[in-house]
Amino acid sequence: MAILEILQYPDPRLHLPAARVEKIDASTRTLVSNMAETMYAAEGVGLAATQVNVHQQVILIDTSPDRSELRVFINPEITRREGMALNQEGCLSVPGVYENVERADSVTVTALDENGARFTLNASGLLAVCIQHEMDHLHGKVFVEHLSELKQNRIRAKLKKRQRKAA
Ligand code: NI
Repeated sequence: MAILEILQYPDPRLHLPAARVEKIDASTRTLVSNMAETMYAAEGVGLAATQVNVHQQVILIDTSPDRSELRVFINPEITRREGMALNQEGCLSVPGVYENVERADSVTVTALDENGARFTLNASGLLAVCIQHEMDHLHGKVFVEHLSELKQNRIRAKLKKRQRKAA
């Protein structure tokens, strides 16, 4: 396993759309295990392949308190959205920024697991938020893009400044 580099907003590669995975094989499972190691090392609850510069429709989520329930979604599709809820979100690609985003309160998602088995999941609360947040990444969208232009500009400026200092 390996820890992968996580792209940092406003890296333009975060805006590349992810392609469907046509064949789930050993390389897919290697990607999944590297992404899991990366997500746990960074103490994140979710990670999209886009964030590690792999533009394939693969997301990982673990919202359990003891980090024991890894969920893998390959080629995920949301088939139902219900309700509306405002939740504070953060993102491993936008460190130190937490903002409220409005999303569906409950969703149904269908996807493949790392063995190619199709499953359907009804999710609400934090899990529903994470699914929508990570699926946004696959479409090249970062959560701050749900905010006003003014807020986005401020966040971009802050992160660019921080990245310059770190360089
Ligand atoms: Ni994110």
